[in-house]
Amino acid sequence: MQTPPDEIATAGEVMQAYVPADWPVEQALSRVADVPRWTFYPPDLSEPAARERVARTIARAGLAVRYVIRTAQGPVGMVGISGLDGSTPDVFYALLPGGRGRGVATRAVVALADWALDHGAEEVHVTTLVGNDASEAVARRAGFAVTEERLDERDGAPIRIWSRLRA
Ligand SMILES: CC(C)(COP(=O)(O)OP(=O)(O)OC[C@H]1O[C@@H](n2cnc3c(N)ncnc32)[C@H](O)[C@@H]1OP(=O)(O)O)[C@@H](O)C(=O)NCCC(=O)NCCS
Repeated sequence: MQTPPDEIATAGEVMQAYVPADWPVEQALSRVADVPRWTFYPPDLSEPAARERVARTIARAGLAVRYVIRTAQGPVGMVGISGLDGSTPDVFYALLPGGRGRGVATRAVVALADWALDHGAEEVHVTTLVGNDASEAVARRAGFAVTEERLDERDGAPIRIWSRLRA
């Protein structure tokens, strides 16, 4: 499928592909307790480690893109898409506490999934750890349905695969 654009707008936010100066967003997310709990973010990133994660993201642009989600007040979280070398990319997300409870994640996931389905993806997935009710609610609101439940091959954790197909 095609490489996503550097910027995608939603009704209330703009999603901008990470640039090196975005390392503080990465660090702030790593310091929100439920972000490392439910995602692959390490807890409490140092500045060098946050800069390194952002640099790795930028270097993987052909395979995955991560966006800072911004409102007029500033950054509120992150949404990303991986698996761009195949036809079934994965979308993932995390919000800072100040960005929650307003549909920001749902709008970001819809925008990114719509973009992917319009540009070569056959299907888009979201993967959730069993028990992550807030994330499951985002997937459901964004039009995804569970298609598989299994153990993650990386760490054996129970996961659900959510899917949205091209209309
Ligand atoms: C998962 C996560 C992003 C969900 O955040 P969220 O704020 O609940 O999700 P949304 O931005 O879609 O907002 C939904 C909430 O806004 C409300 N809302 C208000 N206006 C809305 C709108 N226009 N559209 C959708 N929801 C709206 C919803 O009712 C919901 O509130 P509720 O939970 O009280 O019912 C957040 O909990 C998080 O970052 N968790 C840690 C990281 C994580 O788990 N990531 C996912 C890994 S799979």
